[in-house]
Amino acid sequence: MKNNVSPMLRDNSLTGKTVVITGGGSGLGKAMALTLLRLGARVAICSRNEEKLRNAVAELRTHSGNDQVTYATCDVREQAQVDAALEKIRNTFGSFNGLINNAAGNFVSPTERLSSRAFDVIIDIVLRGTKNMTLSAGKYWIANNIRPVSVVNIVTTYAWTGSGYVVPSAAAKAGVLALTRSLAVEWAKYDMRFNAVAPGPFPTKGAWERLLPGDLARKFDPAARVPLRRTGRHEELADLVSYLISDFSGYINGEVITIDGGEWLQGAGQFNGFEAVTPEQWDALQQMIKSKKK
Ligand code: HXC
Ligand code: NAP
Repeated sequence: MKNNVSPMLRDNSLTGKTVVITGGGSGLGKAMALTLLRLGARVAICSRNEEKLRNAVAELRTHSGNDQVTYATCDVREQAQVDAALEKIRNTFGSFNGLINNAAGNFVSPTERLSSRAFDVIIDIVLRGTKNMTLSAGKYWIANNIRPVSVVNIVTTYAWTGSGYVVPSAAAKAGVLALTRSLAVEWAKYDMRFNAVAPGPFPTKGAWERLLPGDLARKFDPAARVPLRRTGRHEELADLVSYLISDFSGYINGEVITIDGGEWLQGAGQFNGFEAVTPEQWDALQQMIKSKKK
């Protein structure tokens, strides 16, 4: 595990928090788990691959110094498996009061090449999976008067811009964002907060293998698309999410926070491409504009 950077929040900021992280056995989910554990939370990670989860738990224990971490296998697409996983976690920890919907499936493809099943598999992992977890956890929190609760949904910036070549993912993430904002209002009366985080490019094996296969990583260098000219660091995302899980963010509800080095705005501003104009060209252009005024 690479992250040796101290968390942003002070020690024990998350004591009393028990957080379920879907897809917590790899990539960004594992990075979030590490930071939450370092801050004193109890953490349960879940996904489909038991061996991966078991190894991740051992790694997380060693690197965080906190042994309050467990796993439950489940395919988030299946409501019965989700219910069983949350029950297993409650049996281990007694209860839980945080949820990070992070599990996702994705790959790049021209949309016309997708089978109906290929489209469905992404919608099912991302949107149905988030719905399954949220509904099961929400009903439990309401029935047992568990409060306060914080839910963080990991989306992307194309949840609102849309994007070609990842259309099922864009549609599903947009649905997750709508679910986030809707429940932020409806379930606030139960002292539950719902927020989303939209990361830009953060190198992970899972994302890079599926979104930038072959020489696409060289041809479409993700760092070059970012005004800050770099990709994100896992601990930067983990700090943001730990803040949203913590009570320090108690008045933030229904928000989507972008953490992308300015990437999506770079594409949105009509004149941002003018970055390529050289100082000499600017001198000439200025002269041209001024002479027109005369
Ligand atoms: C076209 C494809 C395909 C591809 C799979 N399929 N890969 N079609 N191009 N590259 C089709 C299959 O042919 C099949 O359809 C259907 O999709 C289901 O495939 P399975 O392999 O049976 O599905 P499954 O085993 O459930 O695996 C799901 C998966 C896989 C999504 C395909 O990649 C996975 O497990 N991913 C989990 C992790 C992941 O994706 N992480 C990246 C998250 S990154 P047919 O019709 O043939 O049966 C991310 C970043 C967002 O979200 C933003 C970045 C900026
Ligand atoms: P990752 O390592 O591939 O993470 C995806 C996780 O989801 C895996 O641990 C996987 O575990 C789990 N998962 C997939 N299908 C599942 C299912 N049906 N049931 C349960 N778990 C399932 O990729 P990542 O880059 O860390 O992505 C994490 C999140 O960040 C995703 O929501 C992604 O959309 C978002 N994101 C990432 C980036 C980026 O640049 N990396 C950018 C924007 C948004 P199993 O295979 O064991 O099930």
